[in-house]
Amino acid sequence: MSQIQKYPIGWRVLHWLMAVMVLTLLPVGLWMASRAEANIWGSLTNTLYSSHKALGFTVLLLMLVRIGLKIRVGAPPYPSTLPRSLQIAAKSLHHCLYLLLIITPMLGWAGVTAYPALIIVGDFYLPAMPGVPEDAALAERLFAIHGVFALMLAVLLAGHIAAALRHMLRGDGIFRRML
Ligand code: HEM
Repeated sequence: MSQIQKYPIGWRVLHWLMAVMVLTLLPVGLWMASRAEANIWGSLTNTLYSSHKALGFTVLLLMLVRIGLKIRVGAPPYPSTLPRSLQIAAKSLHHCLYLLLIITPMLGWAGVTAYPALIIVGDFYLPAMPGVPEDAALAERLFAIHGVFALMLAVLLAGHIAAALRHMLRGDGIFRRML
């Protein structure tokens, strides 16, 4: 097997941290939205909303760091044993994931700015997204689109995890690059 080059340690830590955050955001988002739809309000619903907004906004900030890393450091090259078609498929999937990981939290942030529902806890508020007016109808539309993008993200993540598991089972070294 050709020598496998791993991602830098900071990149790997960021990857697994964000994986835990996004895999938490998806069920928490679905749970809180279903409670809101069923008109169940109270401390649990509020906590779900607060943590979702805080975690989602952190994902957005971490994505900026990640894009910076990608531009400055670049991903290590794939081993030459990986077919070119698979390399192209993997890169395309990763670009789509990056795009969705920027657009999805931006839509959530725009929604809470328009609603407005920027409070996290106590005196701690998220900043308002510049240029987004206070408009409840706009907020509803933004939340609906946010939900659609979150589901597209979930589908792509399922594909990404399946591909990673396949590499792990084959032991071709690709999975170890991010371990
Ligand atoms: C990668 C980041 C994010 C993911 C994966 C995500 C995922 C989700 C999901 C799955 C839902 C449920 C959709 C539905 O069933 O209607 C949801 C709802 C929601 N998200 Fe996010 N979200 C993210 C970031 C954010 C951010 C940054 C904010 C705000 C700062 C936010 C605010 C909301 C709000 C307020 C709702 C509820 C909308 C409603 O009640 O109709 N999300 N999110």
